[in-house]
Parts: sequence; C-alpha cells; structure tokens
Amino acid sequence: MDGVARPQAVSHVDVASYRDAVGRFPTGVTVLTARHGGRQHGMTANSFTSVSLDPVLVLACVARSARLHELIVAAGEWGVSVLAADAAGVSAEFASRGKGLGEALAGVPHHPGPYTGAALLDDALATFECRTVEVYGGGDHTILLGEVPDEYLLNYLTAANQAQPALRDLATYLENRIPGPDVTPDQLRERSWWRGPELFVIVDDYELVAASGRGPLLPLVEFLPQSRDIGLHLIIARSSGGASRAMYEPVIQRVRELGSPGLVMSASKDEGVLLGDVKCAPQPPGRGNLVRRRVPTSLVQTAWCG
Ligand SMILES: Cc1cc2nc3c(=O)[nH]c(=O)nc-3n(C[C@H](O)[C@H](O)[C@H](O)COP(=O)(O)O)c2cc1C
Repeated sequence: MDGVARPQAVSHVDVASYRDAVGRFPTGVTVLTARHGGRQHGMTANSFTSVSLDPVLVLACVARSARLHELIVAAGEWGVSVLAADAAGVSAEFASRGKGLGEALAGVPHHPGPYTGAALLDDALATFECRTVEVYGGGDHTILLGEVPDEYLLNYLTAANQAQPALRDLATYLENRIPGPDVTPDQLRERSWWRGPELFVIVDDYELVAASGRGPLLPLVEFLPQSRDIGLHLIIARSSGGASRAMYEPVIQRVRELGSPGLVMSASKDEGVLLGDVKCAPQPPGRGNLVRRRVPTSLVQTAWCG
C-alpha cells in the first residue's frame, strides 16, 4: 500500500480505441526522476503539465505499476527534464521495462538537482525540481501536484542536521563545474564551460553552526580556491565573542588563507587581531574595518537601522 486514495471508476470505453485516440494528442515528453533511500530512477512521462503560476505548481501522472512510483511518492520531491525534439532515443531508453532500476540514467549524462538531488539530464531543454504538495488517486495512476520552489532560494536551513545533506548535495552539484582537461583557456577565461545560477551560501551565527561539531560547511572547503570560477559565493557572519579562538576552525582558516574580504565590526579588544592587521575595538553601530587583499584596510559604515 502506498497511502494513495483511489476512487473506483466504471468504464465502458474500449481501451484499445481510447489509447489510439489519446495517442493522437501531441504532447511534450519529459523524464521524471526521483531519489530515495540510496536508489534513483527515471521514467519517460508525457503527463507533465504546468498548472499554476502563483504559486508555481506542476503535475505529473505516474502509473502505480511503474517502478518510479514507489520512489517518487516516498521521496516527496522529484526532478523533471524536458526532452528536445531529437531525443526520441532518450525517451525510449526511459520507457523500456527491460532495464534495471536506474540503468537508463547510468547511460545518459546527468547531474543531481541542487534542491532535491533528483537527477536532471544535462541535455534537457529545461529542468524543474518540485516538492509534492498534493497526491491524488487517478485510477491506475497517481497524480502528483508539485510545487516548484522559489528559484532563487534553494534552501533555508535552520539546523545542522538539515544543513549537512543539503551542503553535501551542493558539493556534488559543484563537482560538475570543476573544469576538466577538455576545457579550453578561452572557456576558462570566459567561465563558459558551465551554465547555471551563481550560488550564494549565506551563514549567519556561524559560531552556532560550527559548535554543532558536525561541520556542515566542510563539503564546500575543497571548492573554495576555485569559488570564483565555479560561481560559488560563501558569506559567513559570526559574533565577535570568542572569534580569535575560532580562526583556526577549518572553514574560517581556508577562507582567511585565500585572502577573502572580511569586515571586522565592533568587538572587544580581548579578541586581538582577527583579519589583516586590524586590532579589535568597540565601534559605533554599523561601523567596521573592511579588510581586502592588496588593498589598504578602510573604515566603512554599513547601513544600520536602530
Ligand atoms: C512518450 C511516452 C510517454 C509516457 N508517459 C507516461 C506518463 O506520463 N506516466 C507514466 O506512468 N508512464 C508513462 N509512460 C510509460 C513509462 O515511461 C513506461 O511504462 C516505463 O517503462 C515505466 O517505468 P519502469 O519500466 O521503470 O516501471 C510513457 C511512455 C512514453 C514512451
């Protein structure tokens, strides 16, 4: 049982004629994907439809007999890759019952969606990631209504145990942006070997995040030296209390070694020197020293609303 309500329907329609007639209705074709419990799978589907713009809702119908059904219902989130007109071969691969779970995916270039981790095909015309908001019974199919989250907010995480898997997924996604040996100097200069959004990871109260002892930001450390090239921006804010002791925590240490810009705001003199040669001192609200590599440190006033 999958917990999906199924209304009974009595049909007097000849199924073969119905299939023939409905097959004359041209539609786009997508590959739906889901990942759950370490397993992932993809399935060709033409039932994908855009439903609403505010909020952004889409739907897809998945046969209860399809192997994706269990994964997509259990995962509660899924990926959609819209196939191009010349992708009939890909459509056939993902509609072939003879293949093992996830086997079609293994043969097609794809990357994990940064939000759901569900596979998204590299050659898709468009991709979506959805979170299931409603599940309806639809005869031998299940109708999934999915909300497409705000495209600019991948995630808002309030606890370390949420942050860990999300940042691991982000790290997996970023691996696709690391330039391979076939990337040309021109592509490197123009940053044109990858496509996609600039990614901003903003961490507030970092002392609480780091104190969790789980180091949720650690998966990002290896990408920091190339962050400019791969469109990764890491912004960390922390309280000044105890900051001098925290300067050797691995993420902060790496950020400092790379000469990233930093703003030292009001702090007790006891914290000593945190960045550059700035000695900590109490400051008026919003005032701080902006420390940058190869540029003299300057006293700046940030916006402040009392
Ligand atoms: C063009 C096309 C569109 C399809 N659309 C759907 C669909 O919307 N929903 C669905 O459950 N199956 C759809 N199917 C059938 C599944 O892709 C097919 O049964 C697949 O083998 C099921 O996955 P499984 O073999 O992993 O169980 C479609 C097949 C094709 C070729």
